[in-house]
Amino acid sequence: AQPIPDILSPEFAADPYPVYRALREQAPLLWHEPTKSYLVSRYEDVARVFKDREGQFTTENYDWQLEPVHGRTILQLSGREHAVRRALVAPAFRGSELRDVFLPVIRRNSEELIDAFRDRGSADLVADYATRFPVNVIADMLGLDKADHARFHGWYTTVIAFLGNLAGDPEVAAAGERTRVEFAEYMFPVITERRKNPGTDLLSALCAAEVDGVRMSDEDIKAFCSLLLAAGGETTDKAIAGIFANLLTHPDQLAAVRADRTLIDRAFAETLRHSPPVHMIMRQSAVDVAVAGGTIPAGATVTCLIGSANRDGERYREPDRFDIFRDDLTATNAFSAAADHLAFALGRHFCVGALLARAEVETGVNQLLDAMPDMRLADGFVPSEQGVFTRGPAALPVEFTPVPR
Ligand code: HEM
Repeated sequence: AQPIPDILSPEFAADPYPVYRALREQAPLLWHEPTKSYLVSRYEDVARVFKDREGQFTTENYDWQLEPVHGRTILQLSGREHAVRRALVAPAFRGSELRDVFLPVIRRNSEELIDAFRDRGSADLVADYATRFPVNVIADMLGLDKADHARFHGWYTTVIAFLGNLAGDPEVAAAGERTRVEFAEYMFPVITERRKNPGTDLLSALCAAEVDGVRMSDEDIKAFCSLLLAAGGETTDKAIAGIFANLLTHPDQLAAVRADRTLIDRAFAETLRHSPPVHMIMRQSAVDVAVAGGTIPAGATVTCLIGSANRDGERYREPDRFDIFRDDLTATNAFSAAADHLAFALGRHFCVGALLARAEVETGVNQLLDAMPDMRLADGFVPSEQGVFTRGPAALPVEFTPVPR
């Protein structure tokens, strides 16, 4: 067999999927020296690590991955502490809170961005829309002053750079840590104010949340809000861009979605399977674990290759094909806890914002399709993805005939 290109090589960054296939077939459990972790690439194995029914894995790796930029977030917690935190934050992201309070926020923010280019006849769906929309939504959900949204975006950019800093650039690392300090200096007075004068916003809900007599401290809330920049911003950004990249390159499926908007759910689910925003998630083994015919020793770091698991031919027929009508993706919607693609992970840390992401995608896709009835890729443009740990289209220039308002 040919040597398998490294997951940090330019060849992998250009197209990771052949590398994933080689890993699944030839080395489903592989020690990777540069990341000092075991790579796990098959669907079955990645799902098992996430589900972790036997309590063999922890998220201690986030202590060094996330703590410097966010502080201690829900992702670092385990056991009862995690369950309580989850119960404290989850209600804001589902049910009537999502429908009645935050859906109007989502609609308004999407419309505002589209208004800026709807008469222009051209737009870059990544730069003009996807990279802005989810971050604007989070800032607006938190009830932050509109005047501060630009700063919020600045923090978003530094946090994303910090998390994607594979080369370990010391300046990027230092900027990330500075952001933690600046973000705290900004958020603490806002949290104090919101505790005194609560509103209907997300920040007020987090301040008021109480489960079994437990409430979140200012530090807990600040760390959670900071996490939302990456967890809710970058991911949804890449999902929206990904849907359009996939649909624009499959015009028959785009036409089907345009004609029947209930298919947006399927397009979202299939995009998350085929082109997930988060490609790699790490865990720490607490004990020796037998995986894929080998053993992960206790105390090791494990890199779960979501991008590979979601293209495993043992799980999906013709896994490289984008097909919103495929019948082997059991989840017909993107968010259901029974979702079988692994883009939201599984188990205890299953994405708490999945329903919010779905609401943003549904709103965004609907509004964009309405504003651009003949949307097409700019002449000769071929979409390509960038990124390693997280991945999505670099740009998506489209042209359209503006509709009279
Ligand atoms: C957890 C993906 C949207 C908030 C996760 C995890 C993944 C993920 C893979 C698991 C991390 C782990 O197990 O280590 C995604 C994708 C999204 C998305 C692909 C968009 C398509 C959102 C949104 C929010 C959000 C919109 C909120 C604004 C969170 C939080 C966690 C999480 C707070 C941690 C949950 C916990 O530790 O219990 N997400 N996410 N995500 N996500 Fe999302």
